[in-house]
Amino acid sequence: MTEITFRPMQKADVPRVAELERLCFRSPWSEKSLAGELKNRIARYRVGLVGQKVEAYAGMWLLYEEAHITNVAVSPEQRRRGFGRALMLEMMRTALLDGACQMTLEVRESNLTAQALYHGLGFEAAGRRKRYYADTGEDALIMWNRDIPKSLAALDTNHQSKGDQP
Ligand SMILES: CC(C)(COP(=O)(O)OP(=O)(O)OC[C@H]1O[C@@H](n2cnc3c(N)ncnc32)[C@H](O)[C@@H]1OP(=O)(O)O)[C@@H](O)C(=O)NCCC(=O)NCCS
Repeated sequence: MTEITFRPMQKADVPRVAELERLCFRSPWSEKSLAGELKNRIARYRVGLVGQKVEAYAGMWLLYEEAHITNVAVSPEQRRRGFGRALMLEMMRTALLDGACQMTLEVRESNLTAQALYHGLGFEAAGRRKRYYADTGEDALIMWNRDIPKSLAALDTNHQSKGDQP
């Protein structure tokens, strides 16, 4: 099985992360914006490596006990291998280590794939921002996980019980 490993995003990763932005999003962040995040005191970005290549990344801003996810993406060639889930679990664990026990994000109403990923990790839709996305005028759903420790414990339990099966 292909493995993914995570580490903090570094300056040298920025061109590849910007490339993934362009591959994955209609309104991609620029290299300049991503590089700026490396100097942002409240930002935490992590990249996922398959072999030596960055194939996934995510970012968040830490605002006291709340972690606000800014971006989450897996390269198109590496999807449906559990990497998106592993990446989000990594962000939840990182947030918790930084003292944030709740996590929130916005997701396009039409992005059922990402919504399914977040639901599976204990996030629930808790509101909507009307016409949030300027490119299409689409609404954003606001999703929250209000108890990261509880979700991580439950997900670890699931993992354990699956592993226990013959
Ligand atoms: C959303 C995204 C990160 C998922 O990454 P991924 O590595 O393919 O996800 P995983 O393989 O870990 O799948 C985890 C869960 O997500 C959901 N999911 C992933 N791909 C799906 C698909 N094509 N259709 C339906 N559900 C899907 C499922 O619930 C899946 O769990 P399951 O495998 O037990 O069914 C990826 O599709 C992506 O980068 N999309 C473009 C960028 C984006 O939309 N980012 C989110 C912005 S809010």
